Amino acid sequence: MLLSELSGVGRDPAGGVTRFAWAAAELELRSWFSARAAGLGLDVETDGNGNLWAWWGQSASGASLPGTAFVVGSHLDSVRSGGEWDGPLGLVSAFAAVSSLRDSGWTPTRPLAIVAFAEEEGGRFGLACLGSRLLTGAVEPAHALGLVDDSGVTLAAAMTAAGHDPSGVGADPARLAKIGAFVELHIEQGRMPLPESSTTGGARGLAGAGRPIGVAREIWPHGRWRIDLAGVPDHAGTTALADRVDPVLAMAEGIVEVRRAASELGILATVGRVRVLPGAVNAIASSASLWVDARGQDSDRVRELVALVERRLGVAAALESWTDVTRFDAALTADVAAAIGGEVPSLPSGAGHDAGVLSLAGIPTAMLFVRNPTGVSHSPEERAEEADAVAGVAALTAVVRRMAS
Ligand code: GLV
Ligand code: MN
Ligand code: MN
Repeated sequence: MLLSELSGVGRDPAGGVTRFAWAAAELELRSWFSARAAGLGLDVETDGNGNLWAWWGQSASGASLPGTAFVVGSHLDSVRSGGEWDGPLGLVSAFAAVSSLRDSGWTPTRPLAIVAFAEEEGGRFGLACLGSRLLTGAVEPAHALGLVDDSGVTLAAAMTAAGHDPSGVGADPARLAKIGAFVELHIEQGRMPLPESSTTGGARGLAGAGRPIGVAREIWPHGRWRIDLAGVPDHAGTTALADRVDPVLAMAEGIVEVRRAASELGILATVGRVRVLPGAVNAIASSASLWVDARGQDSDRVRELVALVERRLGVAAALESWTDVTRFDAALTADVAAAIGGEVPSLPSGAGHDAGVLSLAGIPTAMLFVRNPTGVSHSPEERAEEADAVAGVAALTAVVRRMAS
């Protein structure tokens, strides 16, 4: 089984795996990445932002002409109690592809790299695609380094504790300029409708289309916001209901409003995280916060949802991250499809990806999806059939062979 060598790492007693950036399980996966790369004779380096690179065809720090490298990759981290496939599938498949190409005697005619981007999920520090956003300059280093996890540990402190010098964090235009094209292979997430124009038009997801592999057309615009609600802390047994300023009630109303606004606007919005302080059973809370994740085909509607919720609750939402619609490179996607045999279902993605961040930075980027029979993701139930994962490796192998020859 393709992922079995990683499956014990970061097992969460609540189910699935928890592999937060710069914490023990993710560090174990980083060691796995380095060992796997070294075993294939690749040169491994960690960039200033903590992204891991394994190079074939040039020394890690060596110069290459701008735009010459072909890069494949994904991420090692997971959401809390997430699935094993989201991220690692792309890396395991990339190593398997390089291994089979190497065994066949093939060598790349341009620099080839496998990259593992850091903190893609934003599971620990709240900002998704942090490693790729920093690389492309989409987020300020000082802002990123000051982000804190649930225990109040800053990104700077977490990096330092893991042995990574945070002083190198920030935009890296020279490295970015080396990348001629980037392809991310990923487990399919959800059962997104296929466009009417394709031969499988109208089907939902790769399972509906009866196809093991697809390509991505676009990533929906998506963002994260935090809403803080203030209360007046007091005793649960001595404060009359009429005298209370209880932020948990406002939070509950807020959660319902998010859902209501999402259905009114025909988009997706989720409150998957709340925080109540101080969190005592017998005290009225001093503050409550809820996080809104909103996405949809149309960015105006996504923004409108937040404005609507702000108006209805009478509070401002703090933007934590925003990624506009990302359309993948048509020529590269056509090349990818040609490498794997022509007509391939093309899916929109409701999930964000580092590939989207690189695409927004102007790098020709494409994605491959491996069929997920249920579409379930960010959950212990996320999975692909072994035969489909093997088909994914074959597809990525064909793509690398075509693009780096
Ligand atoms: C990442 O997987 C996201 O879409 O939140
Ligand atoms: Mn992912
Ligand atoms: Mn994910």
